[in-house]
Amino acid sequence: MSDLLNQARLYEQKAIANVAKTDRPSYHFSVPTGWLNDPNGFSDFKGEHHLFFQYNPYATHWDTMHWGHAKSKDFILWEYLPAALAPDQPYDHSGVFSGSALEDNKKQILIYTGVDEHFENNRKQIYQTQCIAVGDGLNYEKLSSNPAISFDLLPEGSSKEDFRDPKIWKEDGTYYVVAGSRNADGSGQIALFYSDNLTDWHFGSILDQSRNQLGKMWECPDFFALDDSQILLVSPQDMLADGLEFHNGNNAICLIGSYDKANLKFTRNTIHNIDYGLDFYAPQTMQTEDGRRVMIAWMQSWDNRLCPDDFSWYGTMTCPRELSVQNGRLYQNPVRELECYRKNKVCYLDLHKEEETFCLPKIEGRTIDLTIHLKGSDYQTFIMHLASDEQYYTEIRYNRENSILTFDRTYSGYRRDMIGTRNIKVEEDSDGLCMRILIDRYSVEIFLNNGRQAMSSLLYTPQSAKGITFSIIGSVYMDITKYDIEVN
Ligand code: FRU
Repeated sequence: MSDLLNQARLYEQKAIANVAKTDRPSYHFSVPTGWLNDPNGFSDFKGEHHLFFQYNPYATHWDTMHWGHAKSKDFILWEYLPAALAPDQPYDHSGVFSGSALEDNKKQILIYTGVDEHFENNRKQIYQTQCIAVGDGLNYEKLSSNPAISFDLLPEGSSKEDFRDPKIWKEDGTYYVVAGSRNADGSGQIALFYSDNLTDWHFGSILDQSRNQLGKMWECPDFFALDDSQILLVSPQDMLADGLEFHNGNNAICLIGSYDKANLKFTRNTIHNIDYGLDFYAPQTMQTEDGRRVMIAWMQSWDNRLCPDDFSWYGTMTCPRELSVQNGRLYQNPVRELECYRKNKVCYLDLHKEEETFCLPKIEGRTIDLTIHLKGSDYQTFIMHLASDEQYYTEIRYNRENSILTFDRTYSGYRRDMIGTRNIKVEEDSDGLCMRILIDRYSVEIFLNNGRQAMSSLLYTPQSAKGITFSIIGSVYMDITKYDIEVN
């Protein structure tokens, strides 16, 4: 083991012991110490779910990227494992960036981006290449043949600096990798490579590209078949807002189309945002043994980061979500395993409310799974305040007249001028609007109408603010079900 990796492992062991469990999210994966960004290597190995992550164990900001590591049997309870990779080689000394993993012949294959910043003729050069490490689920050895996939394989004019985030899979004995890159027009493209042996790689095709329409660099691709469609997930940087579909800056988008495997050709049919909240980026998926496609993402925006002063950890993942394709859209719902941690059910059925602001006994909390079904068409506005007390609240407002749902954390306790609101256009089902809301200490995830749209955002309101109140303008029938989520 390199000194750098050893140092990270010793450091994290001590630091983890100093963070109280109750100071971090309860049922969401979070970094045990230091900083976390993208999920990496989300995959099964020897019957357990493994999750690696972009990791700086030493501080609550992004720096010298390592890979942190954890595993779980059910996506909810995670066991932290020692850091898996450190930037300890000439080809990755400036960072072990994002990538993925694969179980292959009883070994765990990790593929990641090695970043090498150096000076050539007094000018700074940054090279990004795709590198491989092989291990047993705990310790990994970087291949002596690294880098495995160099930028030389990309089409002429592609960037050497922006070439990263390989996602690997194996099909019919061939290894495939998709990686984000930037072509001669300066905007993003997704390149596909293949290999018979993990050492000799060939360029296959460009699956899709931005053509300066959908942001600049395309990061963190994922590519898989689902429900008779082919899905390409991409996280573009520097997008411009487009109606209520995309916002400025980094977005995570879903391209749905078809795939001609023989010619390695992807044809895009539709495109939409994956999550309409304030904090969602770099999603990655895996397939479970029972055939589910499960997605997890970094619950954070690069442009709106604010680590509270007293935190020794900063970084949370979304709840893992089961995916499906329905009517040309990607649907997402929390993994069914979460239901095993539901306790203390409280249920109100067919509650009739008219022009009223009210609380309901036992409907409150900061680690809860809450479902609200609004029925009928006789109300104009529904307002919910959560994580509230005399001083703070976060608002979910649904204006039925223009079908706009707004998430607003302006009064949640940020002492910086952070972006506070996001609006989405909602399509009601024939029986109204159904919202499943997961609250976990520092986050709120909203799943609308069986997962048709999702909205994930962070908040740092003091934990003592647990209240939930509702207001109705007009007249509505509501079903409300609440569970506490209790882990351990
Ligand atoms: C996305 C990203 C990736 C990169 C990693 C570095 O959030 O920028 O493209 O590999 O973060 O930490």
